[in-house]
Amino acid sequence: MYQIKFLKTPTISLTTPIKTKSKPASTTQSKNTSYNSAYNLSTTLTITNDLGERWFYGHTTLLLEIRLHMNNEVMKVNSKSSYKIIKTAECEWDAGLMAVNVSCPLKTSELPLGKGYITVFVKVKDLTGVIDELNYEDENISNQVFVKETVREKLSYFNIAKDHDKLTSYENKFTDLVFLNTISDFMKIPAKISEFPMRCDRKALRLINDPQISSEYVILYEELSGTIARHLWDAGIFLNLLPISTILDYTGFKASDKLDILELGTGIGLGGIRLAQVFPKAKILVTDLDDAKVICEDNIKLNDTNKADRVRFRELDWESPVKTLYQSWDLILVTDCIYNPLYYDWLINVMKVEALAKTKVLFLHKFREPVSECEFFPKVREWFELEKQWWWRLNDGILVHVGLYSKKT
Ligand SMILES: C[S@@+](CC[C@H](N)C(=O)[O-])C[C@H]1O[C@@H](n2cnc3c(N)ncnc32)[C@H](O)[C@@H]1O
Repeated sequence: MYQIKFLKTPTISLTTPIKTKSKPASTTQSKNTSYNSAYNLSTTLTITNDLGERWFYGHTTLLLEIRLHMNNEVMKVNSKSSYKIIKTAECEWDAGLMAVNVSCPLKTSELPLGKGYITVFVKVKDLTGVIDELNYEDENISNQVFVKETVREKLSYFNIAKDHDKLTSYENKFTDLVFLNTISDFMKIPAKISEFPMRCDRKALRLINDPQISSEYVILYEELSGTIARHLWDAGIFLNLLPISTILDYTGFKASDKLDILELGTGIGLGGIRLAQVFPKAKILVTDLDDAKVICEDNIKLNDTNKADRVRFRELDWESPVKTLYQSWDLILVTDCIYNPLYYDWLINVMKVEALAKTKVLFLHKFREPVSECEFFPKVREWFELEKQWWWRLNDGILVHVGLYSKKT
């Protein structure tokens, strides 16, 4: 799973008109040239994993669309009728790159002063043209595999090596490389030339699932600089990419159930917002540190899940947990929350305090530091029974685990 990210906020500045077809010196690979351009849009892009410490090692072409919107309604950001593409640009990404600068000249006539908003949308131009240098050699390897398993009662503890051997192919949909598209935040076009340069906020918009394919999609604000709580993590994205029927199958609930759901460590809110789509009658409380509150509440509104208090944010710090929220939770969701061993006991303590005998705990985790992360699972199994589990192996060999737990009685 790779994310296309803006490393520098897209900026449009005034330039000396370009009269020849030559490329600006500091710019890489913009294939678009135009005459008499008066503006220049520039940004820096990268393709990384969620943590941002591993870059896509392969070749692909990124396509930028510069979109003109007449209003800044975020929900319509990907509805074709709500924008006009005023320019496209391409840039090549090659194995070994960590960032690529993009620059795109714009003519005065293309940027109607004082009217409308601009967004920059970036995606992989053509997935069939992607070469993944790390996995290209062995075409027989099924890159991503997925297994569903019912756990026998007495399995003593979570054991990667043992379960890893049992991986079998489950769903073809996950065999492709996945690249998440990015859209910049809206930039209002200034009325006067003197107001340039203009740049977007340090925020990006992400569409998880393609709204042109699926009527249920989540759209999220994410911070470009991103503290841990304010950007997207892979396990949450996996949950979102699963079809509703699969999530119902995993949890054992019906879509019509009136569930009370708690999410711990929600970050920017993806998990809770997704579950609101899966369970339209559920009430969902998403929790995190205060740091996540503003962006998470923005995202709850963005997806219309604030209506009738379907999804609410509440600050909950595992380190100083409340006695209990006094709610009879049917489901507790935790995605990608065991990246720091210092938190394990605190997190398990909150799970213990909040779970009742009937509560299911859906726990998704992408392994990054398997040795330390594996310490979490024997600990959690002192208090919780692992009922079912599913595995994914990503194309770089990284494992994602989905476990369904219930509290030991
Ligand atoms: C890696 S992020 C995962 C976010 C989200 N669940 C996702 O999958 O995108 C871990 C989350 O745990 C939260 N967290 C870390 N320590 C916490 C604590 N002591 N109490 C509550 N939340 C905490 C962080 O703020 C962060 O949002």
